[in-house]
Amino acid sequence: AVRLRVREALGAREPADVVRVQGWVRSVRSQKEVLFLHINDGSSLESLQVVADPSLEQRDLTFGSAVEVQGKLVKSPHRMQNMELQAETIRVVGPCDIWSFPLKMKERHPLEYVRQFPHLRCRNNTLGALLRIRSEATAGIHSFFQDNGYVHIHTPIITSNDCEGAGELFQIGVSWAKESAEKTHFFNVPAFLTVSGQLHLEVMAGAFTHVFTFGPTFRAENSQSRRHLAEFYMVEAELSFTESLQDIMQVMEDLFKTVTSTVLSKCPHDVELFHKYIAPAQKVMHVTGKNCNPVLLFSSSCRISYSEAVEILKQAPQTFTFKPEWGCDLQTEHEKYLVKHCGEVPVFVVNYPYDLKPFYMRDNEDGPQHTVAAVDLLVPGVGELCGGSLREERLPFLESRLQRLGLTDAYQWYLDLRKFGSVPHGGFGMGFERYLQYILGVDNIKDVIPFPRFSHSCLL
Ligand code: 4AD
Ligand code: MG
Repeated sequence: AVRLRVREALGAREPADVVRVQGWVRSVRSQKEVLFLHINDGSSLESLQVVADPSLEQRDLTFGSAVEVQGKLVKSPHRMQNMELQAETIRVVGPCDIWSFPLKMKERHPLEYVRQFPHLRCRNNTLGALLRIRSEATAGIHSFFQDNGYVHIHTPIITSNDCEGAGELFQIGVSWAKESAEKTHFFNVPAFLTVSGQLHLEVMAGAFTHVFTFGPTFRAENSQSRRHLAEFYMVEAELSFTESLQDIMQVMEDLFKTVTSTVLSKCPHDVELFHKYIAPAQKVMHVTGKNCNPVLLFSSSCRISYSEAVEILKQAPQTFTFKPEWGCDLQTEHEKYLVKHCGEVPVFVVNYPYDLKPFYMRDNEDGPQHTVAAVDLLVPGVGELCGGSLREERLPFLESRLQRLGLTDAYQWYLDLRKFGSVPHGGFGMGFERYLQYILGVDNIKDVIPFPRFSHSCLL
């Protein structure tokens, strides 16, 4: 027998005489004359219909059980399905106790409910769809950069640099042998989990011109938020010989459009499930609808400066918890208002106050240490999706800034980059989970990761 994945069986052009399909039972319906099963193996949202003689029914053949079905693949008489499997044998590989199994047949469980079962929720349609989309988006991100001449760099996960300087670090390096309770320091310098691969990318951009990284990133931030995780994935790109923020914004936009098109063409049904059942319609208006076209999303994006943003906020008819003031960070409520003010489209905010941003951002020289060439991309429903900047490539500027911060010694290697063939350059980072939240309209960031942390069992 030819072993087929459910996806292959559903998409087959020709009937086939002896095929074998393995998967988990999504529904069992037993009638007098015929037994219907639906089998899913994770290869597609759609399950394969199996038609069998009632004599093949068995006690263990229940919802959730693992089965192997052998039979004939034939054209389905149903309009909605291309092929179905006429079973000759059905073997229950692994039974499932439906009474204690938390997922129920044909029920659309809310995301909050399945979040309690991180080890089982991937067998539910919504999480199945999400994880296939996440996989395609990951591949799409790599393809986008590889196709455009970027070199992929594995930047370190354990590092001693604090790139963002915001103090949201997880410190590590304590080790202990199982047999003794004695703890030792593994590294001879303080070591942290990475908050960004940017500085390492800057090193590589000095040799490869265009580089990117896409890996786990760790921040000790408020984990109760609907858009913050302690462990998340960040896509980062760094481009040498880049003198304008516009070029950085263009890459953000191209990345978004290309990856979103890939996702839509590779898993249209999975995306549709989110837009139908999960996302409140208005949130994903831009990427969905009959003329679903991610390219449209940016056709009406808006670009404002930080100073303009503060003016808009000051003139807003509503009162904010945090009073908008030049020199203060934009809060979530501010980001929301700006996106609404611009017509629920993506908004690029550029040129932030010098003192608000990390040391590596390039001085715009529009006043004494007034603003830096930074850009944040805010999107409807999520807020900040990308953050980037031009980097300070001029040695004297960087030297004096590091000096004021008392960081000169720690960043000698970084200053070296400005001594040996320094070029104008810049880059950005995009939060992968926030990207998924945005294109799918998912409210809680915990629902776009494979394993929601600490929600059920200590193992996860
Ligand atoms: O704006 P951030 O902090 O930028 C940087 O780290 C730069 N060094 C990137 C660069 O220029 N190479 O983070 C980038 C993005 C944010 O815009 C946000 O989407 C996401 O990473 N992000 C988080 N996502 C989930 N949970 C968190 N705790 C996040 N913190 C940042
Ligand atoms: Mg940021």
